[in-house]
Amino acid sequence: MPQSMLKSVTGPADWRAQFPALQGQMNGRPLAFLDSAASAQKPQAVLDKVMGTLSGYYANIHRGLYEYSQRTTAEFEAVRGKMAKFLNAKSQNEIVFTSNSTDAINLVAHAWGLHYLHADDEVILTEMEHHAGIVPWHLLRDLTGIVIKYIPVTQEGELDLSKLESLLTKKTRLVSFVHISNALGTVNPAEQIVAQVRAYNPDIKILIDGSQSAVHMPVDVQKLGCDWFVCTGHKLYGPTGVGVLWGRGETLLKMPPYKGGGDMIERVTLQGIKYREPPQRFEAGTPPIVEVIGLGAAIDFMESIGWDAITAHEHALSEQLFKRLSARKDLRIIGTSPNRAGIVSFLMHGAASADVGMILDKCGVAVRTGHHCCQPLLGVFGIEGTIRASLALYSNESDIDSLEEALDKAGKMLA
Ligand code: ALA
Repeated sequence: MPQSMLKSVTGPADWRAQFPALQGQMNGRPLAFLDSAASAQKPQAVLDKVMGTLSGYYANIHRGLYEYSQRTTAEFEAVRGKMAKFLNAKSQNEIVFTSNSTDAINLVAHAWGLHYLHADDEVILTEMEHHAGIVPWHLLRDLTGIVIKYIPVTQEGELDLSKLESLLTKKTRLVSFVHISNALGTVNPAEQIVAQVRAYNPDIKILIDGSQSAVHMPVDVQKLGCDWFVCTGHKLYGPTGVGVLWGRGETLLKMPPYKGGGDMIERVTLQGIKYREPPQRFEAGTPPIVEVIGLGAAIDFMESIGWDAITAHEHALSEQLFKRLSARKDLRIIGTSPNRAGIVSFLMHGAASADVGMILDKCGVAVRTGHHCCQPLLGVFGIEGTIRASLALYSNESDIDSLEEALDKAGKMLA
């Protein structure tokens, strides 16, 4: 019987016990894994599902009349329904499987942007974006001549929305912003931004990068009121190699394909091609079959715990992490917005972040150091990188204790 079936998932300690990788050691020390914003660990239920599919009934999907293929196809397509429910989409046909959030944003930039944007059309991004929310639009600018503008970020690490009105013009076609900053932990007021943009011009398209939000808070794409929402499986306790693009049904229908290949066509002749309807139109080639099925198990796992329990635990722990690190005299916190998720970025006075990261590693504490794929954002603070600690539902107080002990040690050695 899979281990996951043997354990009841009733409280934070039980949730943590479901993650085999967290039971291990790093450099001979109990692991304090504080890098979930980069990628989350996987619960036993996901590992069992992935291995069970591969060893039990794996076959390519949408292509075989035999039982294995039919079963794998049914499980793959069931995850589309699960993701639709998870994001409160109107229909599972609004769920496109991609390889990650980056791929999903590139899909929008190319399938929609290349078709509908022209020279001098304006796209508004924010200085807070992950590079995945900036680079695809730069590539598009090189191809089309669009103009890119940015909502600035304050020294507290919040979007300066007082500037949004002056950025919006008759030429604005798209506003794209990150829901939760991966580098600072700031939770942006998504519904307020959407309302402000829609009040100016309801035809402006809006994309929300939910790479960090989908794992920390319930997402309701209908309530958000955007046109596209992207997230990624590996941060949602699922496998790598699978991401999700949610697109409003009528918007997806008007988008031509991004990549060409098998499974996205109705009919191919040597003279022309009829493409399938969304979402299959955007899923050329063999998709990440097992990864999608594994993502379905991750969603089941999160739903078995429930958002109320997850958010209560993460909120309390996140406040504790922020308060404890803010109270230290040896650190400078980067991003002090009170609207925050369980991500804290900081610098140690007199020490290089990479050196601190290496000492933390020796103490069994995993954090990310560097620019977090947010060079323009860190430029706002006049810095090149930070040390970043990030939480997930399996994090606990003892992770924070280990972080503080390791920081004490690093301080003695470096500062
Ligand atoms: N986007 C991921 C991070 O923030 C990789 O670390």
